[in-house]
Amino acid sequence: MFGKPLDYVPSYSGLLEQLTAEDQERVQELVRDSLTRKVGHSIEYQIAHPNGDLRTISCIWEVLLDEEGSPMRIFGTCQDITEARRVQEESLARQKLESVGTLAGGIAHDFNNLLGGVLAQAELALAELAAGAHPEAELHRIRDVAVQGADIVRQLMIYAGNESDVFELVDISRIVTGMLDLLNVSVSKHAALETNLGQNLPAVKANAAQLRQIVMNLVTNASDAIGDRDGSIRVTASKATLGRNEAIWKGVPEGDYLLLEVSDSGHGIPLDMRARVFDPFMTTKSAGRGLGLAVVHGIVRKLQGAIDLETRTRKGD
Ligand SMILES: Nc1ncnc2c1ncn2[C@@H]1O[C@H](COP(=O)(O)OP(=O)(O)O)[C@@H](O)[C@H]1O
Ligand SMILES: [Mg+2]
Repeated sequence: MFGKPLDYVPSYSGLLEQLTAEDQERVQELVRDSLTRKVGHSIEYQIAHPNGDLRTISCIWEVLLDEEGSPMRIFGTCQDITEARRVQEESLARQKLESVGTLAGGIAHDFNNLLGGVLAQAELALAELAAGAHPEAELHRIRDVAVQGADIVRQLMIYAGNESDVFELVDISRIVTGMLDLLNVSVSKHAALETNLGQNLPAVKANAAQLRQIVMNLVTNASDAIGDRDGSIRVTASKATLGRNEAIWKGVPEGDYLLLEVSDSGHGIPLDMRARVFDPFMTTKSAGRGLGLAVVHGIVRKLQGAIDLETRTRKGD
């Protein structure tokens, strides 16, 4: 289960070494609690096999006390639940797809507001015309609202995967390089934009405009997360190879992939929100639409890629 040879002598430190830093902390905390309060616990964590495969393990344990009532030994069982979790994830993804229907509510609301604006401006324009004036300002406002509406529709179509797309062979590093001027003026003045773009990466079959949209949406979010404190945004492109288990875990075929990473030193995402940030209309911003990550998700899904989200909320926040 742990990918170790049969003659391997198990140890607590050996186990911890296989865990991610975050899981190490969680396991150690529970073990400490077991020893001080003399209670059993259960936990799920991910381990990395020596060959790089990721597995999900579920453990449950009890504390055995000696005659004086002090903890003598922790014993229990571990189970590899990677497959079960994957099936669960798939069914969650299916449910999510079905729930796209409930999206209609969100869209109806957004559009109702936009149409309300159009109606009001049209009434004003008619009144001005009747009075012999030129309703230019109203027409401009109506046009602006229509542009907003068209933008929402375009993003939703990308999310739903209905946009007709032309796939070509594209070099992601060149795409990002070509966007640098635009990105530099779009990000917050307090954010330093750094890149590390691999040269001569294999070309991917994708739609260049959609890749630009991914980069733009992620960098915009990174900049929003930094806000008006000083911080940095990093965009990197490299090659990655997914082994069998990691591929199963991410729900994609194993093989070679291009890895596009956007990271920032901003406020991070609270644990309980991680599962929802890709939902359409999920936003924590007063002027946000909540479509950025939904669109990224839609495009990546269509390219048969996978998304990893790593986040750490900043200490003190
Ligand atoms: N880099 C990031 N750092 C912190 N939070 C983020 C980041 N990217 C996305 N989020 C969170 O995910 C939410 C959804 O993002 P998104 O779909 O782009 O919509 P919007 O940016 O319009 O809010 C954001 O409101 C924010 O709470
Ligand atoms: Mg956004």
